[in-house]
Amino acid sequence: MGSQEVLIEAQGLTKKFDGLTAVDHIDFKVYKGECIGFLGPNGAGKTTTVRMMYCFLPPTSGELKLAGLSVNAQCREIKNLVGVAPQEDNLDPDFTVMKNLTVYCRYFGIPKDEAVKRVNEQLKFFQLEEKRGVSIGALSGGMKRRLIFARALINQPQILLLDEPTTGLDPQARHLAWDEVRNLKKKQVTIILTTHYMDEAAVLCDRILIIDKGKIIEEGSPVDLVKKHAGEDVLELDYDENVLSTLKEAFPDAHFERLGDRLQIFTDKPHGVFEGFLQDHPM
Ligand SMILES: Nc1ncnc2c1ncn2[C@@H]1O[C@H](COP(=O)(O)OP(=O)(O)OP(=O)(O)O)[C@@H](O)[C@H]1O
Ligand SMILES: [Mg+2]
Repeated sequence: MGSQEVLIEAQGLTKKFDGLTAVDHIDFKVYKGECIGFLGPNGAGKTTTVRMMYCFLPPTSGELKLAGLSVNAQCREIKNLVGVAPQEDNLDPDFTVMKNLTVYCRYFGIPKDEAVKRVNEQLKFFQLEEKRGVSIGALSGGMKRRLIFARALINQPQILLLDEPTTGLDPQARHLAWDEVRNLKKKQVTIILTTHYMDEAAVLCDRILIIDKGKIIEEGSPVDLVKKHAGEDVLELDYDENVLSTLKEAFPDAHFERLGDRLQIFTDKPHGVFEGFLQDHPM
């Protein structure tokens, strides 16, 4: 959980592209050790906000500080503190998997022996050891996402910016990424995570900001937001085509969401409805 030390602070943060206001006067604070989720539809302004945090884009107006450093004046220092897994694939296609990591180590001035150790650890954790010598073009989409995540950790950052880190990952790799986020939280790393998956935000994030059309329209703990938007009860089970119609009949007012091989059912009926159903229909 977070402390009371503010590590990221935005005040009136705004980004305009020609006529479009992508980020519209937003204010937020992130405390040290917190994991904050940015949720919102395509084009909401999540990536633009994250990009301003690592000095990829300058704000049009407003203030944005990381560890007390302003993105308007102290980008070099900020870049040493943060690890970034961008939404897009910005791996270097001319280098092998391993070299994509070692180049980053050099960029951060990590001594050679330490660099070799960190690169090996990351390749092992993200199950990319077999691919260490291959070029980026020979990786699958999910492997590239894993390598981008691994690269974000190479400088052991205090602040980690993860823009849709699990999009395109298979369920097993997704859980691996979740495990890593949990490990980092234990080490008091402060994390911003954008995602389209409410379940991901719910298991990883201490707080969620819902962003739409460049504004923060809602903020709260995952539990509070699920209660408010999706009902009180959530049943999660293995997705099975055969039981779906039975479930839809049993819960005509519920909201069904499929997440890979899992099915989530949200209802605001009083507690106990799922338990009753499961007694009648053991699965
Ligand atoms: N470099 C750019 N030039 C012009 N417009 C841009 C640029 N980058 C983003 N935008 C626009 O800003 C808005 C916000 O985009 P952004 O990428 O921040 O959304 P997002 O919330 O990350 O969406 P997604 O869920 O699709 O990743 C969109 O309307 C987008 O078209
Ligand atoms: Mg985005």
